[in-house]
Amino acid sequence: MEARVVAHARYTIADIDKRLYGSFLEHLGRAVYTGIYEPGHPTADKNGMRGDVLDLVRELNTPVCRYPGGNFVSAYNWEDGIGPRDARPTRLDLAWRTSESNHVGIHEFAEWAAAANTEMMLAVNLGSRGLDSARSFVEYTNHPGGTYWSDLRKKNGRADPWNVRLWCLGNEMDGPWQVGHKSAAEYGHLANETAKAMRAFDDTLELIVCGSSHSDMPTYPQWEATVLEETYDQVDYISLHMYFENYEKNTAEFLALPEKLDRYIGTVSGVIDYVKGKKRSKRNVKISFDEWNVWYHERRSDAIRMKEWDWPHAPVLLEDIYNFEDVLQVGCILNTFIRRSDVVRIACIAQLVNVIAPIMTMPGGGSWRQTIYYPFKFASLYGRGTALHLDVDCASYRADVADNVSYLDISGVHDGDAGTLTFFAVNRHGDEPMAIDLSLEGFGEAKSVEHTLIKHQDLEATNTRENPDNVKPETTDDAVLSGNSVQVTVPPYSYSMIIVRL
Ligand code: AHR
Repeated sequence: MEARVVAHARYTIADIDKRLYGSFLEHLGRAVYTGIYEPGHPTADKNGMRGDVLDLVRELNTPVCRYPGGNFVSAYNWEDGIGPRDARPTRLDLAWRTSESNHVGIHEFAEWAAAANTEMMLAVNLGSRGLDSARSFVEYTNHPGGTYWSDLRKKNGRADPWNVRLWCLGNEMDGPWQVGHKSAAEYGHLANETAKAMRAFDDTLELIVCGSSHSDMPTYPQWEATVLEETYDQVDYISLHMYFENYEKNTAEFLALPEKLDRYIGTVSGVIDYVKGKKRSKRNVKISFDEWNVWYHERRSDAIRMKEWDWPHAPVLLEDIYNFEDVLQVGCILNTFIRRSDVVRIACIAQLVNVIAPIMTMPGGGSWRQTIYYPFKFASLYGRGTALHLDVDCASYRADVADNVSYLDISGVHDGDAGTLTFFAVNRHGDEPMAIDLSLEGFGEAKSVEHTLIKHQDLEATNTRENPDNVKPETTDDAVLSGNSVQVTVPPYSYSMIIVRL
């Protein structure tokens, strides 16, 4: 199979917001406890944070991390997580039927985030609580001092405010599973009033209102229209979520799902424009795609186990073990975000450690990179700059979600400062290698090319504690530069990163 791609310096989509490569940590399962936090672990720092995990997170260079949920946030009292640890209450977590010790709260997370070189993106509870706890939380984190909440922060050991910029107004409030679930009109009103109160404190905060939990929700996309009509003047982003499943073990259909993601983004973008037009507004609301990943490997068995357990603390939950097929999917998802980076400005892989995550840990033991670690890392490290509008000519196939799914899924990014052009390519064909001809126009002289490949014979291959390098990238010398074009042949079902140095 052959594919021709043309990249032109003037055909651009947008300057990518680096926060497109954000992440997410929820108080869920072992994400926090025995994930990032494990006092007594051989690598733990003075705060009990695991150094081996911090190293793996730093390697990802994820610029922002959403916290503390997720469904968890909708029944969470942030005040439970401050003050002396031994005086913090243990609470029932209604979202995941577990117990929460509150040994990690905002102070511990803030210190961890600083050590991980990532910015905090905090969510307020608009499920069981509301405006009042949200405004207190912002005062606690962001006010310099001289007030009840800011002085309490100081008393608890943090003199300077953290000055958190990004705030989520609740989580998945369209979902009947959410504690404090609301109708679109109810939620829109509450989110608007909460946003107004937060803006009365600091008008420069970046606020994210909840969109649909996924595009199969019965209220989608009317939810977005109603919520934005209530909140348009107060918010900066609308949040979307999507998880990808392959219960049928049908790789072609699975890898076509990013077409559905693309349509979801396009539709919500249209709703944003509709509300903007209706309000005669100049404001540009964008999308924060703050939960996305493959999630199905353990989903059904988790649901059965959860019903039976007796409120355990930090149990094994949502610990999907990713395979090589998921590398291809994560590559296609990230390509979709890059191609839509004019409207998707923030995105968060869900989640970061142990819970549907690229990083896994053993309590008291080691940590390792899941298969999906690599496409996320490559996009985060090399997918910064200007997204390019590529002209792609390749055969396509028919799937349930779309009639013409290109066998080649590709995105391109020009980083003028680094002097690089980077292409992320997935060959969605299971049998045929693909000869790609990449024509580069208007970028000046191309000096060299590097090809990094992820390929495994077995789509089900995983990285485990015993065999952590089973699926990993390799550098090849098979990409050829001739003049200003690159020729490379990629294997069937493979992920490639092609970097051209200018
Ligand atoms: O990431 C796991 C869960 O998925 C989150 O808690 C929730 O927001 C979503 O449904």
